[in-house]
Amino acid sequence: MGDYMFMLESHLSVDQFRVVGEMRDLASEAGINIFLTGGAMRDMLGGFPVRDLDFTVEGNALKLAKAAEKKLGAHLVSTNETYKSCELLLPGNVTVEIAMARHERYTKSGSKPQISPATIHEDLRCRDFTVNAIALSLNKASLGLMIDPTNGAGDIERKEIRATHNYSFYDEPVRMLRVLRFKARLGYGIDERTKAHFDNAREAEMLLRITPDALGAELRHLAQEPNVADVLQALSDEKLLDLYSPALAGAKLNLPEFQKLQKARQLVPAGMQFRLNALPLFLSILLEKLNPKERAVLNKAANLSKPELNATQRLDAAAKKLERELKSPKLQKASQLYQLLVNAHGEEILYLLVDSEQRLVQDRIKNYFQKYLPMTQEVTDEMVAATGVAPGTPKFQKAKEQMILKRLDARPKKPPPLPEPPPPPPTSSFARGPSVRHAR
Ligand code: CTP
Repeated sequence: MGDYMFMLESHLSVDQFRVVGEMRDLASEAGINIFLTGGAMRDMLGGFPVRDLDFTVEGNALKLAKAAEKKLGAHLVSTNETYKSCELLLPGNVTVEIAMARHERYTKSGSKPQISPATIHEDLRCRDFTVNAIALSLNKASLGLMIDPTNGAGDIERKEIRATHNYSFYDEPVRMLRVLRFKARLGYGIDERTKAHFDNAREAEMLLRITPDALGAELRHLAQEPNVADVLQALSDEKLLDLYSPALAGAKLNLPEFQKLQKARQLVPAGMQFRLNALPLFLSILLEKLNPKERAVLNKAANLSKPELNATQRLDAAAKKLERELKSPKLQKASQLYQLLVNAHGEEILYLLVDSEQRLVQDRIKNYFQKYLPMTQEVTDEMVAATGVAPGTPKFQKAKEQMILKRLDARPKKPPPLPEPPPPPPTSSFARGPSVRHAR
């Protein structure tokens, strides 16, 4: 039992693990059973980085979220009253989803389900794929117990995506897009029967029953994918992009730009805090080749909101401004470049890596990711505390920042070029010629 708790500690970031402990204590105080579920369990068992923490509670999730706001300084990002779930952002940039364990009953395929509170076992059995249907108990009496009613752990070991039941794609047809996204992301295969269910659901025209809200939610997920080009390629191969826009099914899908974006995202050092609003960046590439009519079709198909579209429109101008600043001859020191980029929005930086034709701009961003950001890790809290500043205070953060800037500028300059080697001693022209051979 303890093994999974140990695995959790070694797999999550320090902040994520702290939040798991805090949420466990909050739920215990409220007398609610809490489990770590979904993507967090899949990614931990599969050896992938955990992006956000999905908690499922047997009880009132929204009440627990309120307590997290009050006691943990959580910021409420969104609430879903139907599913009794909400998304929170906790200190340390930890994204959390808390959902009520639920039973879903679909009276009609693709329709809104009837939701009722359930046990964790019932909840897991209603989920999409077995790899997403695993829970870890965080409750005192069963701490560290893994609950895996559909043997998702076995499928993770086999690297296979399997639907939890025969109606998975019929209940929620958007899962036909999800399965391809997970396949491309995890590099797993799709189990034969699941493939057959997929084909049957397609034949039965289940794709037409995906609601604009579900298509929009999936588009937002797509925008977050680090390997976005691979996922889009998979969706395009399966001819699923015309659900969003017939134009994207043709030549207007800008895959080369998405490949550049995928490469750019790989430059961001793992484990570094990097603020990225991925949707406007994704949309700006997706919409680039579409004419206004085609854009309107896509906006309607995915029910995109005004603020989302406005943020996309603003990105181009904001990135161009950053490009001008990055070209400035005033940027002499490493610390100046670091300060400019550490305060810039991630989507603007990546936009320039994809779009800018300025060599200097590309080089400066690459230096930031490959040299300067990793260097900031060399300044530890212990080093700052040794100067006598009290940890956890604003003064401490400031002192740390100052130490980082100093270290960046103290980097040894490139070593001077080696002196020219002495010229070789003069020899006969025959010996110097590379291919002169004398016939015997
Ligand atoms: N889920 C489902 N059917 C859907 C959407 C979600 O069964 N149509 C379940 C899955 O168990 C999933 C969980 O809800 O793991 C959380 O959904 P989501 O946040 O969309 O996916 P994650 O698995 O967390 O994946 P990601 O890493 O992309 O966030």
